[in-house]
This record gives sequence, C-alpha cells and structure tokens, in this order.
Amino acid sequence: MTQMQLIQKLNSPEPGWTINADVIVIGSGIAGLTAALSARRKNLSVLLLTKDVLSTGSTSWAQGGIAAALGPGDSPDQHFQDTLEAGAGLCDQASVKVLVQEGPEAVRRLIDLGATFDLDSAGNVALTREGGHRQDRIAHAGGDATGAEISRALVAKVIADPKVRIFEHALVLDLLKDKNKRICGVTLHVMGKGKIDGVGAALGRAVVLATGGLGAVFEQTTNPLVATGDGVALALRAGATITDLEFVQFHPTVLWVGANSRGSQPLISEAVRGEGAILRTTNGEELMKNIHPMKDLAPRDVVAHAVHEEIIKSGKPYVYLDGTKLGENIWLQRFPNILSSCRKIGIDPLTEMIPVVPAAHYASGGVISDMSGKTDLPGLFAIGECASTGVHGANRLASNSLLEGLVVAEKLSKHLDGLPPQSEPETEKTPPNLIDGRIRKEITETTTKGAGAVRNAAGLNQTITKLTELALKTTNSPSTQSWEATNLLTVSSFLTNAALRRQESRGSHWRSDFPKRDDEKWLKRIHGKLVEGKLELSEKTLEKK
Ligand code: SIN
Repeated sequence: MTQMQLIQKLNSPEPGWTINADVIVIGSGIAGLTAALSARRKNLSVLLLTKDVLSTGSTSWAQGGIAAALGPGDSPDQHFQDTLEAGAGLCDQASVKVLVQEGPEAVRRLIDLGATFDLDSAGNVALTREGGHRQDRIAHAGGDATGAEISRALVAKVIADPKVRIFEHALVLDLLKDKNKRICGVTLHVMGKGKIDGVGAALGRAVVLATGGLGAVFEQTTNPLVATGDGVALALRAGATITDLEFVQFHPTVLWVGANSRGSQPLISEAVRGEGAILRTTNGEELMKNIHPMKDLAPRDVVAHAVHEEIIKSGKPYVYLDGTKLGENIWLQRFPNILSSCRKIGIDPLTEMIPVVPAAHYASGGVISDMSGKTDLPGLFAIGECASTGVHGANRLASNSLLEGLVVAEKLSKHLDGLPPQSEPETEKTPPNLIDGRIRKEITETTTKGAGAVRNAAGLNQTITKLTELALKTTNSPSTQSWEATNLLTVSSFLTNAALRRQESRGSHWRSDFPKRDDEKWLKRIHGKLVEGKLELSEKTLEKK
C-alpha cells in the first residue's frame, strides 16, 4: 500500500490584513474563555477567535456537569482513584493529581466569577453522580444546562473587558513561525465586516489552542459540527506531537432519532442514570445487571460496549433508557432540556422508555501538553479537548473535561510572565492543493465504518485504503469546506492508523480481533508527528510513577 500523503500546510490566499495582540486564544469554550481571563490577569491584550459565535461549541452543550470533590465524604484522593480506574491504566498520574487537588478551588472560583450552580435544600452546591464515580461529585446548573451556564458567566466577563478583542466566524488555518521556529501567530479566515474579512494574519507573543474536539469526523456525534479537529490538525502540520487519538469515547446514551440520522445527535446525560434511570434491552430486561458491579453507573466505555453488543445481539437499532421511575419533578427540574428533546420526537420519558444508541462524544487524545498547557512547540499552548495532558488515559471519567479545561487554563498564567516580544513570521511557500470539501461525507462514512466504536484489522485497513484514495481528491480552490475536509482527513488518518497499531482493547479503544487489555505490550501511548506530509507514529512506554 502506498503511504498516504497528507497536506502539510493549507492552501489559502495571502493574508490581506494583520492584527496584533499579546495572546491569541483560539476557541471560546471553558478552556478558551478561561485562558483569555488568565492572560488579562497578567495585563496582556487578547485576541479571542471563535469558529462560530462566542456562546456556541461543546462547552455550551455540556449537560451533566463538572466533577470535583466538593461533597462531604468525598476527597481528591477518591476522585483520583475513580479517574485512574476509568482511564484503564493510561492516565498520567501526576497530571490527574493536579486536576483533582486543584479542582474544588477552581470550581469555587468559577462560582465567585458568577456561574450559578444548582443548590441542595441546605444551600450547598447540589452534587449528582455519573458513570465511574463512586461519590456524588458532579456539580450542575440549570438542571441539565451546566455548560450553557458556565459559558454565560465566562462570556459575560470576557466581553466586559475592552482589552479582549473577539472575532466570531473565524476559522484558524495554520500556525506561523518566526526565524527561531517559535510560534508567533496564525493565519485565519474571517467572515467579517469591513477590513477584517477574508484571510488575514493574527500575530501574538503566545498562541493558545482551545479548539475543542473532533466528533464531526464520525457520522453521528454529540458534538457540534464545527468540531472538525482543527486544533489537532493545524498543530500536527506545524510539527507538534499528538497522542492518544485512538481513544475516542462513545457516549452510551444518545437519543435514537431514526436509522438515517447523521450529524449532531441529542445527548441524554449520564446524570439521568445518576438520578436512577436504567438501561433495558428491548425485551425490558436490565441491561447492566450482570456486566459490572457499578451496573448503570459503570465507567462509560463499559456501558457503551454493553449497549453496542446488545444492539448487535438483538438486531434492534437501539436499547432503552428507562427513566419512568424518576417522577415528574426530577424530569422538570433536573432535565428540562432532555425532556424537551425527547418530547420533540414524540417520546414522553415520564411514561415511556427512551430509545438510545452510542455516538462519538469525546476525544481523550490531542496535542501533547502539560497541566499548564505547554506543548512541545515554543510559543504554542493547548488546553481542553484538543490537548492531551494525560488526565483521561484511555477513557475520560465523566465530567472531568470541563474541570480539566478550567484548571489547565488557569494554570496557563504561569507561562505568561516574561513572554518574548512579538516576532515576525517567516514566509512559507503555499502548496497548491487542499482536500476537496465535497468528500466530507465519504471521510465520515469510512471513519465510522472502520474506526468507529468497534474496530478490527480488516475494517481499519479498508478505512486506511479508502482514506488514501480520498487524499488524492484535491482541489486548488480554498474554501471553508475544503479547509475543514483537509483537517478531517488528517485527524481521521491519524486515529485510524493509531487504532490499527494498538493491538488490544483498552478503555474506549475496542478491537474485536484483540478483545483483551494487554498490559505486557501496551502500557504505552502512541505518539505521532507529520513530517513532509507523512504520518510518523511511535510508541512511548509510560513512565513508572
Ligand atoms: C453527560 O452529561 O453524560 C456528559 C458528561 C460528560 O461527557 O462528561
């Protein structure tokens, strides 16, 4: 098989305008917004770029909540143990320690900043449970609108600050480097007004990637469709090291809205099971009863696999989530948005069981970074879902992602003292081609077919062959569709090749031809770089802690 040639730099028109700020933040979820505030605390000017509008994105869609050891009887140590167990042997323990120890204070600071969480009858933050947690430690807001409330509070702070300039509808294309190979800005395309329209350059003393996930590489996802893996793809093109992309978490309970439904699908939060709902087969039997001691609240990968296997066994396209015992008050107060999504498709969860399926939800891997966002490229930081700090291992513990975005973005400030002055980007030759935007559907179809929830060598090889053919379908007309298709093809190739290489099943990576976890051979991470358009993967044994 010829090795696939990927695009090392996006074809785009020459920048028609330039803008400067001390720190350029890309993404407006919890990680990007908090990073902007961290930079402002250091009195640095910020340019905040977002692909859609400020308040959209995965954070705003987050239902369940944010995990932190806030309750009586809980402790960072117990949160640490649960995170490691969900991560199936691949968590970076030092990073997890930072996350769980700093988590409670970070959530309290979020409350001080204006985020309003739901309270219990004693006036304390109400805590619920989700899969893999042995304690109630998920703080939530507006019932099932936690992300929207966090986003509201952070956006209010950011827009009130005149030193934060915001560009919406801004798709970042590539990173710019100075003569010392330090990242000193980005090229971007803005659908804007006046001078700031079309392709331009944003120059800064630091660039922070907080672009979110890559769920749109699959046919069905809980992510917004702007989640095309842009941050991972552009960091790869610039020479950064990426890891753990084979670990894409499938959420077990996504509302089944019909066999032909594609794109973003409505999530039914794990918190619904936290409040007592249970999964049932289409014959009405309890699905999780004999599968894991934590039953419906087992770690997410275990539940997703059980749902998937049952769908194959029964020949029915879904299983049921039975929340009929929760009662009207819980549905109305805790899950008003989920209730409304179900009713929109004619299901009343108060009296009827909800048909659910797994769908792509969260990328545990990304750009390698430390717990304050530093990557292996000077001047480049990565935070949130596009980053890989090692806290999630092979399977992220529910509701640890908002926490990670928050904690790491706050800790970014330690790198913002004494940034070097702005430097000039070197000019690089623009290559002629991009992936043709019209093949996006074929990319998502082949990724889902061969590299979806369950994988094997035959399917992964077929997907790689298909992606290699698709990599030849190029265009020399730059457009948003072709920039996104190029990013999708890049991340799909990485995750498919990494999934083929990892010959075991672990966490959210499930190989039907290697059904067992293999600690002898695979206590390793798969790292990768893009060198002259070729993916170079290598294995890194975990350091013993
Ligand atoms: C959910 O509410 O089930 C999703 C929470 C998460 O993905 O962390």
